[in-house]
Amino acid sequence: MRVMKTEKNKVALVTGANTGVGFQIAKALAENNYTVYVGARNLEKGKNAASQLGENAIAIELDVTVENTIKLAAKAIEKEHGLLDLLVNNAGISNAGTRQGTMEEMLAAQMPSVASISEMKAVWNTNVFGALAVTQAFIPLLRNAPSPRIVNVSSGLGSLTMNQDPSNPYRKSFDVVYGASKAAMNAITVSLANELEGTNIKINAVSPGFTATALNNFQGTESVEEGSKEPVRVALDESGVSGQFTGPNQEHFPW
Ligand SMILES: NC(=O)c1ccc[n+]([C@@H]2O[C@H](COP(=O)([O-])OP(=O)(O)OC[C@H]3O[C@@H](n4cnc5c(N)ncnc54)[C@H](OP(=O)(O)O)[C@@H]3O)[C@@H](O)[C@H]2O)c1
Repeated sequence: MRVMKTEKNKVALVTGANTGVGFQIAKALAENNYTVYVGARNLEKGKNAASQLGENAIAIELDVTVENTIKLAAKAIEKEHGLLDLLVNNAGISNAGTRQGTMEEMLAAQMPSVASISEMKAVWNTNVFGALAVTQAFIPLLRNAPSPRIVNVSSGLGSLTMNQDPSNPYRKSFDVVYGASKAAMNAITVSLANELEGTNIKINAVSPGFTATALNNFQGTESVEEGSKEPVRVALDESGVSGQFTGPNQEHFPW
């Protein structure tokens, strides 16, 4: 028997939700009765993903580096719902896609002494400026929701404190193209949390586990289901915490 819905679904947008971690977050939200907008820079891929998630999922074209798609997505969600309960800034890239190679080879080319500035700009354009541009466009809709949240999908690589810890085996992977973009995203998270203090909008950063996705040439050690657990937990968390950064085992990461 079909259970009648008594309450209106909450409304969420996940950027880069056609695959990987974003898809898992969208899946969990759809299963938890959110109406979830599956943001995708390629609408066909978004539609394909949404069709796998059932009636609560709606594909929406959104390239975080293309202002017009951000504006149109915000207008469409405003027209349909007048608010947004949850924004997940998940879309991200680890390189500009101009080279082939293993994760190790890519990382070596992204170290500060040799990194291509144009590659750095391309990655920061998506991971940093894109995430902030989407956030700015949706803040007015978030303000209309009763308990709105923003979740920034970051990385442990973005923790400056952990990158200075000699016992951290990942610190040698702290590059300026990808790792530093996540440090910048973290800085923006703290800045926004400070600005929004005293409002009802909560904002947190979260790192997935080291997950096998296109982002790392599928060299991650966790499945998407395992690696996405903490982003899914934070996305569903309505406890009201703000200004926090957590890692794959729910541990608090230092900024
Ligand atoms: N995998 C890990 O181990 C790991 C660890 C720490 C943090 N993260 C973070 O987790 C997030 C998701 O990454 P993932 O591992 O799931 O990688 P992924 O499978 O490569 O997914 C990245 C998603 O972002 C989308 N995207 C890229 N550029 C975009 C743009 N300009 N506009 C809109 N969407 C765009 C991709 O779209 P297309 O399909 O069209 O390319 C894809 O949907 C990223 O922010 C990443 O930095 C991942």
